[in-house]
Amino acid sequence: MSEHGEHYEIAPRRVAFDWRRTPLHWIPDEPTATHVINVLHLLLPAGERWFVKVFKEGLPLIRDPELLKDVKGFMGQEATHSVQHAYVLGHLAEQGLDTGPYTRHVDFLFDVLLGERPPRGIPVPAEEWLRFRLAVIAAIEQFTAVLGDWVLRAEGLDRAEPDPVMLDLLRWHGAEEVEHRAVAFDMYQHCGGAGLPRYPRRVLGMAVTAPVITYLWAWGAAYLLRHDPELAGRTRYSLREHNRAVRKGLLPTWRELGSAVPRYFRRSYHPSQEGSLRRAVAYLASSPAARAAAGAAGRAAVS
Ligand SMILES: [Fe+2]
Ligand SMILES: [Fe+2]
Repeated sequence: MSEHGEHYEIAPRRVAFDWRRTPLHWIPDEPTATHVINVLHLLLPAGERWFVKVFKEGLPLIRDPELLKDVKGFMGQEATHSVQHAYVLGHLAEQGLDTGPYTRHVDFLFDVLLGERPPRGIPVPAEEWLRFRLAVIAAIEQFTAVLGDWVLRAEGLDRAEPDPVMLDLLRWHGAEEVEHRAVAFDMYQHCGGAGLPRYPRRVLGMAVTAPVITYLWAWGAAYLLRHDPELAGRTRYSLREHNRAVRKGLLPTWRELGSAVPRYFRRSYHPSQEGSLRRAVAYLASSPAARAAAGAAGRAAVS
């Protein structure tokens, strides 16, 4: 990623998290905020695996060696994110919260509806189908950048004294999202063709992505609250509880999320204007998981 003329290197960190002491309600006494954030674990294992698959399809189209390097770093980071969030699903299952009935739908979305070929034989040329999916990834990455920057700044979360392992997972991931926030957009611009359809296709990618994500999020939060064995059906997902958590700074505001969309529609938009790379890099220098990974990599290099 070129930022202010310098090349910022994107590389995965081989992190590991120990979930054994993480309680089901990892934000104490805040089941709604806990499960609204937990929707990330439902969507990201399949979603980020899919990013990597689509980018693999796009690799032969890359003509710029610098972009190719960024894309490979991006793929390494997203593959690691996918695996780490999948471990959380295993931990939820051990605590009696089976997410399989929900994630089956997410798998269907990414593997079948957004798979290598258009669903139900819809006659879209292969190149156009790839460009559409790259536009969807660029749109999703606008949200992951906004959420990543939010979680790094979320003092309300610190005040709530959440489980430190979960907070580190969220902030390590959020920081890497800010680090690589421009790669999917640059990839789309590079592969999207120089002609007229490139901008409207980018708009279409967001017009499809924003409502689908909103729907999946509300459904996911409702699913988790309904199947949470400690709540036994006493708490339902409601806008009132959600907004209460927003006021406490446990969730991003609707304005922060909503304004990400018109910003993305600007013709002059570039993701390097999103969030703070400085804050992301500072967190990664202090993250327990990222530091342990850097230490392990350093030890492997000298032995
Ligand atoms: Fe990610
Ligand atoms: Fe990402």
